[in-house]
Amino acid sequence: MPDAVQIALEIVYAFVLFIPGFVANPAAVLTGGHFPMDLGRNFPDGRRILGDGKTWTGYLGGSLAGVLVGLILAGIFLVTGFAGGRPYGNTIESVLVTLMAMSFGSLTGDVAGSFIKRRIGIQRGGKGALLDQWPFALVSFLFIYLFSGHFFMTYYGDIVGALAILIITPPLHRGVNIIGFAMKKKDVPW
Ligand code: CTP
Ligand code: MG
Repeated sequence: MPDAVQIALEIVYAFVLFIPGFVANPAAVLTGGHFPMDLGRNFPDGRRILGDGKTWTGYLGGSLAGVLVGLILAGIFLVTGFAGGRPYGNTIESVLVTLMAMSFGSLTGDVAGSFIKRRIGIQRGGKGALLDQWPFALVSFLFIYLFSGHFFMTYYGDIVGALAILIITPPLHRGVNIIGFAMKKKDVPW
């Protein structure tokens, strides 16, 4: 069944290549906590714009950690020939653009999710169900589509890869947060 093998391979590539986007969020928990991005301000609806859970040290630290992990992966792919050896791009510049788009997109989506949570009245740290899990992946896809179109079209362009990420993300997110809770890095296991 070459078709099933093909699809399985596509899902493995989509997942492994997205590791920097996944890593950015838990890394933000480790570096975060200083300089709230909304400067403590409220939106016209009287609620915080983003809340104290979205800080610059988390956003920048998490994004840079994602890029760093991506560079390590790029080196491993180059040595092992995984996904052709240079899946993120052929030059160091294009690799950096892909990884920055993926990681900053991931944490920009995380911010967007919090913005929506606050608008519908969910407190900082409250359970947002898919709002904690999908926006980071969707905005990361948007950023790699905009800034690294060739990479996006190759690995996520035919929906299978992108859909696989969206399906894998909720249980993965839940698992990582349970670990973060057990390590006392997070106050709640979600
Ligand atoms: N964090 C941060 N800055 C970010 C993202 C995360 O400082 N840009 C840190 C915060 O300490 C945050 C923790 O990581 O409390 C967990 O992140 P997350 O679950 O995304 O935030 P919540 O506190 O749950 O807030 P929200 O309800 O807005 O998602
Ligand atoms: Mg949360």
